Amino acid sequence: MDKFVIEGGTPLRGSVTVSGAKNAALPIMAASILSEEPTVIHRVPRLRDTETMARILTHLGAKVTFTNNTVVIDPSSLTRWTAPYELVSTMRASICLLGPLVARCGKVRFSMPGGCVIGPRPIDLHLKGLSRLGVAIDIEEGYIVGSSRNLKGVPVFLGGAFGSSVLATANILTAATLARGNTLIEFAACEPEIVDLAMFLRSMGAKVTGEGSHLIQVRGVKKLHGTEYTLMPDRIETGTYLLAAAATGGCIRVNQCRPEHLFSLLDKLEEAGLEVTRGKNWIALKGKKSWKALDIVTWPYPGFPTDLQAQMMAFLTLAEGVSSITEKVYPDRFIHVGELNRLGASISLDGPKALVRGVKKLHGTRVMASDLRASAALVIAGLAAEGETEVSRIYHLDRGYERFEEKLSTLQARIRRVH
Ligand code: EPZ
Repeated sequence: MDKFVIEGGTPLRGSVTVSGAKNAALPIMAASILSEEPTVIHRVPRLRDTETMARILTHLGAKVTFTNNTVVIDPSSLTRWTAPYELVSTMRASICLLGPLVARCGKVRFSMPGGCVIGPRPIDLHLKGLSRLGVAIDIEEGYIVGSSRNLKGVPVFLGGAFGSSVLATANILTAATLARGNTLIEFAACEPEIVDLAMFLRSMGAKVTGEGSHLIQVRGVKKLHGTEYTLMPDRIETGTYLLAAAATGGCIRVNQCRPEHLFSLLDKLEEAGLEVTRGKNWIALKGKKSWKALDIVTWPYPGFPTDLQAQMMAFLTLAEGVSSITEKVYPDRFIHVGELNRLGASISLDGPKALVRGVKKLHGTRVMASDLRASAALVIAGLAAEGETEVSRIYHLDRGYERFEEKLSTLQARIRRVH
């Protein structure tokens, strides 16, 4: 297994260009099977997760060809409607194939995705939404077995105990495009990745309006045609580099990004006393030697993203004062706390709330990655720490960050991958 060896203490400097959004690529690649015609998708990040999605689509019978960051998906010969445990269990997000599969094939046999370190990851809203559209759903030996002669458009309320659900919205939105009649998704997720999915579906001939709000309307059509589409930039990758620069007192510019996707983070960085400037497709950050403590609460978009919570915590371990971080999306998403404390941070947990007492310095040591964003937090802390940090099990990082150590090295970070 690979590990990163990081020599901390160097402020990040320079420019970096972010890749296409992983969390737009997955539902959009899944949605391509709604048509029998080929689809071309540009700016697809080459990650373990997008390779896994490609493998599942191939298993279903589609032809998937990557050329650099462009993928061509030809779903004309889709033969299977089953997704086996051994594939689904490696990536929970494969659940976003449920809606497209049942809409295309009229039936589906899909392994229940497992939980993961950030929480139990229930799918009750996905199943509720699909059964509202007319899918008969049973759970048999850990598999979701669904069938529907024809989907019928209806109003579907998708709000859960933690607010909206991104991939449940994606599943219902994709299935509704081929349902008979109109579907109204109430309490839909407003994430930019859902907006990207809606724009992709419209480019296939779907009739979708309201994306980006809590109310999405879909008028079902008989067929969808192939399309060519370019993904939005990855807002979480963007935020990760900004927080790495902030934690090292550096000064960077992130190009080919969308500042409007990160208003909550930029607001918090300015509240900490850092200088943030932005243009149409770039963000520049001027770090400081010291910064103020913050109170962070994670919410569905446009609130502070849970996917940047661990990275923000790494930044706040060195703030002046005591910060609080409250998780309203995944209350257990604090697996990174133990490892950050091993680097010299002073963090305590009280249920869904973490108290981060700022310390003067972090000290490099050996830490272990556990999930995608927690691993990014450990790299940020290692870059800010004194001395050498080793981050093992970085296959977690390879799921969601394209050429991570390469891009950090262009920002003067002293980081290398050791096989
Ligand atoms: C998406 O996961 C993202 N993944 C996650 O990013 C992200 O953390 C999450 O949205 C929240 O923003 C992808 O887009 C591939 P949810 P998703 O359904 O859709 C509860 C990363 O690091 N819930 O919006 O699976 C759930 O438990 C990943 O890139 C139900 O109760 O998340 C959570 O508390 C990690 N019932 C909340 O809703 C359901 O049926 C939000 O989850 C579904 C979800």
